[in-house]
Amino acid sequence: MKSKPITISITGGKGGVGKTQVALNLSISLAEQHKKVLLLDADLGLSNIDILLGLKPTMNLSHVMNNTCQISDIIMKGPMGLDVLPASSGVLSMVSQDLRFYAGLMAAVEGILDGYDYFIIDTAAGISPSVIPFLCHSDELIVVFIDDPTSIMDAYAVIKIMNQQYARKKFYVIPNCVKSMQDGSDLFAKLTNVANRFLHVSLNELGWVPEDAHVRKAAQKQKSVVEMFPGSKIAEAFRLIAKKLISQRHDNRQISRELELRVGRTVHGKQHAKESPNAID
Ligand SMILES: Nc1ncnc2c1ncn2[C@@H]1O[C@H](COP(=O)(O)OP(=O)(O)O)[C@@H](O)[C@H]1O
Ligand SMILES: [Mg+2]
Repeated sequence: MKSKPITISITGGKGGVGKTQVALNLSISLAEQHKKVLLLDADLGLSNIDILLGLKPTMNLSHVMNNTCQISDIIMKGPMGLDVLPASSGVLSMVSQDLRFYAGLMAAVEGILDGYDYFIIDTAAGISPSVIPFLCHSDELIVVFIDDPTSIMDAYAVIKIMNQQYARKKFYVIPNCVKSMQDGSDLFAKLTNVANRFLHVSLNELGWVPEDAHVRKAAQKQKSVVEMFPGSKIAEAFRLIAKKLISQRHDNRQISRELELRVGRTVHGKQHAKESPNAID
């Protein structure tokens, strides 16, 4: 029997901090390093991975969820052998509040995961009922944030909720749009300082991503930056992040997913933190 992939959600709380860029370019960089990767566009209402890759899906997750087709029918081929599950943009009904919807979606996805090394989930902004099921379903979480007080507090809020309500202790973080390695370390320190003060969590920096004008140029051509500008600083940064991820041991699986969801429901609202900063309570 083939093994299941490592499932990783890319989150961060705030919109516009680079979650989709990280999900896309990290997935391609993993694929470049001979890993078999499936990328799910889980920004169900405002999906855009298909656009960023110049793919033109005729069917997407909304067709799977209304039983028009099977999930295997919607897999699109991306660069470097990456497989993509496209969502649908502007279909509000896709953004369900019903936990059963997400259970159904993940059950459908589970059926095609054999043989993949990584299953990467690009989540929507916020920490809403349409994001949490994906985070709960993941072995690992990568929190993307930028040097902006609201982004840092939103990243902290995601970590806090997943820690206090879903018993998560380990988080990967990626500072995005930084100017230098020093900037990246300083930004990482800002988040760890607040997290270590108030929560019992371990934050691991997977690497940092520079602000790079090549991202915009690649997006205009509907290509990923790592594919279009492989010699750019940002492509190098994503290669390093992928290498670091490959070198990691993944032991979040000690918490079973069902258990985690159940724990989330039973401990909802219970305080696990040392104390909480008022700003996001
Ligand atoms: N490292 C970066 N350098 C330059 N532009 C970036 C970088 N990361 C993201 N962007 C740009 O910022 C905007 C938001 O990025 P996106 O990945 O869509 O964010 P999110 O998924 O968090 O909403 C996009 O226009 C994207 O091209
Ligand atoms: Mg996005």
